[in-house]
Amino acid sequence: MGALIVTKDLWKIYRLGDVEVHAVRGVSLEVERGEFVAVMGSSGSGKSTLMNIIGCLDTPTRGDYWLDGRDVARAGQDTLAEIRNREIGFIFQSFNLIPRTSALENVQLPLFYRAVSLREQRAQAAAALARVGLNGREHHYPAQLSGGQQQRVAIARALVSAPSILLADEPTGNLDTESSREIMALLEGLNRQDGLTVILVTHETDIAAYAARQIQVSDGQIVGDRSTAAAQAGKGWGAQ
Ligand SMILES: Nc1ncnc2c1ncn2[C@@H]1O[C@H](COP(=O)(O)OP(=O)(O)OP(=O)(O)O)[C@@H](O)[C@H]1O
Ligand SMILES: [Mg+2]
Repeated sequence: MGALIVTKDLWKIYRLGDVEVHAVRGVSLEVERGEFVAVMGSSGSGKSTLMNIIGCLDTPTRGDYWLDGRDVARAGQDTLAEIRNREIGFIFQSFNLIPRTSALENVQLPLFYRAVSLREQRAQAAAALARVGLNGREHHYPAQLSGGQQQRVAIARALVSAPSILLADEPTGNLDTESSREIMALLEGLNRQDGLTVILVTHETDIAAYAARQIQVSDGQIVGDRSTAAAQAGKGWGAQ
């Protein structure tokens, strides 16, 4: 069986009037099931654009993308939506929770269109909140939770539909050091214990160090790909 994520010469070109922005320029990447990958690179280098394509939120201008053997570069909107709902959990820097809605209801939302009873939806949401260590906080509103706790709710919401891939775009960007550490320990556990494939965007080397593999993006291209072990041994980008 091939890798879970395979992209080949992927391009994303935005057109704004007469101006073209080449946000992703020929990215070929393979990620195996169960990997934990950190994507690094300066602002505007194309990290989020690449993540959005990997997460089926967006399609490439050209190039190939196979997700678990399925050709998604040429898939229609309905297929992409179905893959997103089944396979992928998203976590963002800004949590993206619905304000006047309890933690439990926020986590329940992705199950809304599933053919399971409301009672079962509630049970699954409660279990996801327990997995992220938020027992007893089910009925808190986002504003009644700390930043780290809000990000845990967002992770529970990503987990509730039992995805195989977790995509996190700067999940610790709004958190203090201690909360960041807790969120990273949680993601590490989801990768190691629950077998989720995790891809994380970060600017910080100590956050990237939780991943086993680090990819460096510059100007829409992958310019480095190395193991964290190699990074910690002082080896440069490109070292395996
Ligand atoms: N919807 C869009 N329309 C036009 N240009 C876009 C769009 N989204 C991103 N871009 C451009 O594509 C390039 C890559 O943007 P992207 O958001 O992927 O960068 P990034 O690496 O995630 O940056 P940051 O670290 O600041 O989040 C930038 O030049 C950006 O201005
Ligand atoms: Mg970004």
